[in-house]
Amino acid sequence: MPAKLRHPRRAPTAGLERDPWALYEAAVQGVDHDLDLMERVYRRHHGASFTLLREDFCATAHLAGAWVLRRPANRAWGVDLDPRPLAWCRRHRLPALRDAARRLRLVRGDVRTVRLPRADAIAAQNFSYWVFHARDDLLDYFRAARRGLRPGGLLFANAFGGTEAMGALIERRRIRASNAVDGTPLEPFHYTWEHVSFNPIDHRLRCDIHFRLADGTRMRRAFHYDWRLWTLPEIQEAMREAGFAEVEVYVEGWDEKRGETDGIFRLRRRFENQEGWLAQVVGVAPRRRPARSPRPGERRASWPGAARPARPRPRRRPSAGATRGLPRRRARTSRARRPA
Ligand SMILES: C[S@@+](CC[C@H](N)C(=O)[O-])C[C@H]1O[C@@H](n2cnc3c(N)ncnc32)[C@H](O)[C@@H]1O
Repeated sequence: MPAKLRHPRRAPTAGLERDPWALYEAAVQGVDHDLDLMERVYRRHHGASFTLLREDFCATAHLAGAWVLRRPANRAWGVDLDPRPLAWCRRHRLPALRDAARRLRLVRGDVRTVRLPRADAIAAQNFSYWVFHARDDLLDYFRAARRGLRPGGLLFANAFGGTEAMGALIERRRIRASNAVDGTPLEPFHYTWEHVSFNPIDHRLRCDIHFRLADGTRMRRAFHYDWRLWTLPEIQEAMREAGFAEVEVYVEGWDEKRGETDGIFRLRRRFENQEGWLAQVVGVAPRRRPARSPRPGERRASWPGAARPARPRPRRRPSAGATRGLPRRRARTSRARRPA
């Protein structure tokens, strides 16, 4: 069993101006945007929002922290193997959350074996599950996530791809001034996302994050990733095999006038490939316990509620973007979601 980490209430210390995790949160994460999408998709399935979120691969638990701040009824678990970002979270995030910190629990453990109360939604964001290179490990994770969800619960696992995803790539962005979690002002800085190598034989993708601060300080390889680049069909198939009843793919749209992504993830069955795209793959846990196959001569048992008609689902018309297709030339500067 993983050790549950307590929440010491220490005063935040100065120094986050050069802290890699603070810079990472500012450059990479868009947690309110992610939570808006999760609530929208959950409402589509259940007619209401949810309360219990589990953030897998949570690191500093930025997403889980934003979740407990949204509403007093919200609760969250954050799960990570590495004690260092969890300690960072206890030191910098929990004091900033004040009373809401009581509704965020951090657990040090492996997402494949952790045992926690079942959640309404599980977030595996910024491609963190790509740390699993072998299909069996990916399946183990998806099975654990499915078991960790209440009936009808949702797993949100994002993915990127496109014609340039499998090549050497360097993207630079200037990150605007902001505040770190404890209020420390962060001056504008530069963030670089680099694909260092990609092996077509096993889809091993190595990526780095570099920072350059306003005073010229360079932080090369502040973060390094050794991933398997999983494709959308592989992810969907593995989720189904892991027992998810449905799998949906939401793809970020494109604003032709502004020549950039529009930040809106729409449910798609097809889309035109581009240089780079971002998607959220959503696994829907079964609403009822799966019935085992009847033995010869045995009548199939039905679980309570099995005869209830399924809730009618809203029909979706394809949006203009789906029929027109998306432009080939596409910036990959959408805030968030290249790595982690
Ligand atoms: C960069 S962070 C993700 C940060 C943040 N959640 C995000 O979405 O940007 C990836 C984290 O996954 C954690 N991790 C890797 N393998 C894991 C596993 N099997 N179980 C739990 N955490 C794991 C690492 O320790 C690391 O903190």
